[in-house]
Amino acid sequence: MLSDRFGRTIDYLRVSVTDRCDLRCSYCIPKGFKGFEEPENWLSFDEMTRVIAAFARLGTRRFRLTGGEPLLRRGLPALAARLSALPGVDDLSLTTNGTQLQHQAQALHDAGVRRLNVSLDSLRAECVQSICGSDSLDKVLDGLAAARHAGFSAIKINMVPLLGVNDGDIEAMIAYCIEHGFILRLIEAMPMGSTGQHAQGLDLTRKLDELTRRFGLHASCKTLGGGPARYWESRDGSFTLGLITPMSQHFCASCNRVRLSVDGTLYMCLGQEERFELRPLLRAGCSDARLEAAIRDAIELKPEKHDFITQPSRVVRFMSMTGG
Ligand code: 5AD
Ligand code: SF4
Repeated sequence: MLSDRFGRTIDYLRVSVTDRCDLRCSYCIPKGFKGFEEPENWLSFDEMTRVIAAFARLGTRRFRLTGGEPLLRRGLPALAARLSALPGVDDLSLTTNGTQLQHQAQALHDAGVRRLNVSLDSLRAECVQSICGSDSLDKVLDGLAAARHAGFSAIKINMVPLLGVNDGDIEAMIAYCIEHGFILRLIEAMPMGSTGQHAQGLDLTRKLDELTRRFGLHASCKTLGGGPARYWESRDGSFTLGLITPMSQHFCASCNRVRLSVDGTLYMCLGQEERFELRPLLRAGCSDARLEAAIRDAIELKPEKHDFITQPSRVVRFMSMTGG
């Protein structure tokens, strides 16, 4: 098992397969951004598979494919099939914006992806357009339907409520998730990059009372994938609401993850600079033992916590550069 200087077990790796995206969410990629990673620096599927196999040998059991928008990386289901077949990879999941999901849901399920998070901030087309810069609502809804049809269960929808933009849409989103059997997760906007720093996220700890009363929800002991979300359930258990509160109630003490970016850098924290570059080692033909030792060294660098509240202007990387 990998564990860090603060006694935390690291058993979860998020793997960004591209930093590119077809959307421009206001809290994520800046409009007109040109600084995407050059293709020659993208880890190949062979290189990603090597890193993930090494993590699995070191005791990591859960892996999530993410981005940018992971479905933009050509041949992703083929990578998923290779990863889900690796010894020790018990749980392979995917986070997507859903725009390409309609065409890829079945191939991803066939490849062994079992859990799916889909980002959606509103059910009003004009609101989605204003947040994401694209008229993508219908495509995402079709993608969600295709995912259910393909056999995915317990699909989660990620929503980032922004003050005065879509914070009034939470109730409609809950009603939609109740109707379709989706789990809704509300996420507080984090000050990552200039975009994140300008985002005015809702304080969800304050909003919680109102939501639990209105929908008759009670606190649940569900962990659902072992991430930082805390959950509430309806009385009959048919609806689950998750809250991710990095700002109003941070959860760094139980952080269990690190992130691999598309250029092969291991990032230790969304909100700090500590990192370790694996690509030079991989391209120099390092041995498996050397790779495992490098991963152990990297985990030693993991900082105790983010400083989003005390130093919000510190992190210059927006989410899709690190891997969401
Ligand atoms: N703060 C919080 N969440 C963010 N995401 C992207 N940028 C931010 C931010 N600054 C979310 C997306 C997606 C997930 C991968 O990360 O909405 O659901
Ligand atoms: Fe793309 Fe996700 Fe960033 Fe939106 S939040 S721009 S969908 S990577």
